[in-house]
Amino acid sequence: MPTVMMVRADSERDGELIALPEAKYGGSMTVAEAVEKRRSHRAFAEWALSVEQVAQLCWAAQGITAEREGLRASPSAGGMFPMIVFVVDREGVYEYLPHEHALRPMIEGDLRPQLQAASLDQPCVGNAPLCMAITADIDHLATKYGKRAERYCILEAGHIAQNVFLQATALDLGGVAVGAFEDDRVAEALKLPPNLKIFYLLPLGYPAG
Ligand SMILES: Cc1cc2nc3c(=O)[nH]c(=O)nc-3n(C[C@H](O)[C@H](O)[C@H](O)COP(=O)(O)O)c2cc1C
Repeated sequence: MPTVMMVRADSERDGELIALPEAKYGGSMTVAEAVEKRRSHRAFAEWALSVEQVAQLCWAAQGITAEREGLRASPSAGGMFPMIVFVVDREGVYEYLPHEHALRPMIEGDLRPQLQAASLDQPCVGNAPLCMAITADIDHLATKYGKRAERYCILEAGHIAQNVFLQATALDLGGVAVGAFEDDRVAEALKLPPNLKIFYLLPLGYPAG
């Protein structure tokens, strides 16, 4: 297996941030084809994803799609954007920063085995070259929506996940929605700040075979 993840090797560094290449809008697969082709994949080739693929997946999750208004690829209740996406690979954990379209390195080291252990030991979590962790700052959303905030965060996590899966499909990648995990153990593994709650894990990669 390669020792250097493409995210680091190919990226321009801007201070502490890892700048990502711009998202691409063209492609040969229609949305309808991606919807039809999407399937859950739980076994992956070992190949790391390219920085372009990581950038495209992050953009599909939370990328800025209307610069002036600050709107994103996934809808958000009241445009409050409480969702924070982390990318976990064999090198470490990174936070995706939509406005910078960059990754902020958070933790060094391979946390995937800990994530797998926290997820009922599901091998797809530990074996995928990349795992997205969808988290939310519920309290931030609650300032506007009170008790409905948690519900809205769950809905927003679903929007993000489906964007990511359709984008992955269009890139000939695959993934699976993982909701079966112990929140506390995932939070501990990823060293999430107390204001963030984990909602979804999305292991992603080249489908095996
Ligand atoms: C909310 C939710 C949680 C899920 N959690 C898991 C999980 O923990 N592990 C897993 O292997 N699949 C999980 N799945 C994937 C489903 O098993 C899968 O979507 C279903 O079997 C239908 O197959 P398809 O995605 O290929 O259409 C989850 C799906 C959803 C929507």
